[in-house]
Amino acid sequence: MCGIIGIVGKGDVAQRLVDGLRRLEYRGYDSAGIATLDNGKIERLRAEGKLINLDERLKKAPVRGPIGIGHTRWATHGGPTERNAHPHATERVAVVHNGIIENYAALKAELEQHQCRFETETDTEVVAHLVDHHLKQGMDPITAANAAFDRLEGAYALAVIFANENNLMVGVRQGTPLAVGYGDGEMYVASDSYALAPLTKKICFLEDGDRIRVNAGGVTIYNRDGKELSRPIRITAQSGETTGKGEYRHFMLKEIFEQPSVIGDTLNSFINPATREITLPADLVEMVAKASRLTLVACGTAFYACHVAKYWFEQIARIPVEIDVASEFRYREAPMPEGGVALFVSQSGETLDTLEALRYCKRQGQKIVSIVNTIESTIERESDMVLHTLAGPEIGVASTKAFTTQLTTLACLVLAAAAKKGAIDAKTVGAMSDSLRQLPSLVNSVLQDTAVTIEKLSREIAEARDVLYLGRGAMYPIALEGALKLKEISYIHAEGYAAGEMKHGPIALIDDKVPVVVLAPHDKLFEKTASNVQETIARGGQVLLFTDRDGLTQLGRGCRWSVRMPVSDAFVAPILYVIPVQLLAYHVAVAKGTDVDQPRNLAKSVTVE
Ligand code: AGP
Repeated sequence: MCGIIGIVGKGDVAQRLVDGLRRLEYRGYDSAGIATLDNGKIERLRAEGKLINLDERLKKAPVRGPIGIGHTRWATHGGPTERNAHPHATERVAVVHNGIIENYAALKAELEQHQCRFETETDTEVVAHLVDHHLKQGMDPITAANAAFDRLEGAYALAVIFANENNLMVGVRQGTPLAVGYGDGEMYVASDSYALAPLTKKICFLEDGDRIRVNAGGVTIYNRDGKELSRPIRITAQSGETTGKGEYRHFMLKEIFEQPSVIGDTLNSFINPATREITLPADLVEMVAKASRLTLVACGTAFYACHVAKYWFEQIARIPVEIDVASEFRYREAPMPEGGVALFVSQSGETLDTLEALRYCKRQGQKIVSIVNTIESTIERESDMVLHTLAGPEIGVASTKAFTTQLTTLACLVLAAAAKKGAIDAKTVGAMSDSLRQLPSLVNSVLQDTAVTIEKLSREIAEARDVLYLGRGAMYPIALEGALKLKEISYIHAEGYAAGEMKHGPIALIDDKVPVVVLAPHDKLFEKTASNVQETIARGGQVLLFTDRDGLTQLGRGCRWSVRMPVSDAFVAPILYVIPVQLLAYHVAVAKGTDVDQPRNLAKSVTVE
């Protein structure tokens, strides 16, 4: 997945393109580039690595021109090198692309028959040569671009500029997002409204199949057959402000410590702090409460939120739930129940696998509910109903505050649906919503009381090659999430396991070099987990135990490390216990010197499949 931006403007646009790319870096950051028209000539500037490298190049060698395109890349075809960085261009055409051209190899072979010389291993370069080829055949720029778009298969958001055309940009949206921004005598395109917000608040989101002709005075939107279309213009609520790290060393650490406040904001948007009643939209609650089955689908960390919610919906609201990762679900052709509700969780609201799974469920007649953190995102716009996590912009690629606000939102929905169904009485609802409302202060106390201990022991964990995370019940998905956090930012191999599964094979991995992180509040499953811990210790396993006072009394002695957690209601324990595993992953990564906010090979939003 990549980020693209384009400006048809007044005065030089290069620096604004780079500034816009900074707000798109979450989509990919292994290389970046811009192209402008300087006196009608295509001028390109590209750099490998983080955007700062491109910015430095621009300062040393400014490129001029009132029209341009920019791109920040997450490599799909061709390594993350300057040569493979976008924009890709010929003398006459420059292109930026987000997505994958699935038939690029066939098109490349065809173009090579026409003596096209390719410089890169990318799929995107095919688009530049295809448009160029049509220009050579005498087509005008717009016709040439449309003829090229007609040949493409796969997912693509494209912006194209042409030599000597200072007031023309064309584009297309197919499978990956593209938005148009309306300026004052200028026009903009970008992958999302977050990148456009500093330039304009007037945004239009294109739909799949839309094509655009843009000049400084406006945009024409049309379909493949040339029929003009109109798309609503909205005023984006995205802030143009750029989020900083404040006094924190990394965005991830800042976002970990923002959790008490953003969990509180999210709770207050769903539970009236005065009356304690849950104020979710009544029609949504009714739809979920009546559902014959809920299907929860997401990717990565967001999927683990669905996994926790499965335990809650089934145990508290007595609603059957199926969960799956989107990349599997979307191809499974699962039969869907009559009157079913499908719920999609996504921080970015742009994850393509999740979006395609949503579209499958819509085709199967399910009611679609999404829980997103990014307003105006594609997943939100294609849902019947949406709930917003109020985590604010999450810049760190590793999801932290988005995850705990997803869990908070799901917990409120579970309570509301359970109350609607009469699965729990009003007294229980009150008690459980009280335990939710204590979360901000509980999370804050965990942050204050465990951060130093965790930072210290993380230096020993950083020596490990493999780490296991164990949990039972709703702690099992938190074990999975803890392992993912460690993997994605410290690059240490880690696995989350249902604690009860250890004896069915994974216990063979245990020796004195393998730290085993155990998440075990003193709840009704504690005794079972205690047995697993003893089995691990008996084989030399180095156990890091996260538990509360009673758990420590019973189990702390034989463990290599232990961290005391506050006593909490079992309902909110999964949200509480993810905090220390976030801190653990963060400090291990810092000890290993990896790039915590932008880990290698990753991107914040995966808009390719
Ligand atoms: C989380 O730490 C990861 N960066 C990743 O698994 C992420 O949760 C996943 O890609 C889903 O993203 P989304 O929430 O934006 O859909």
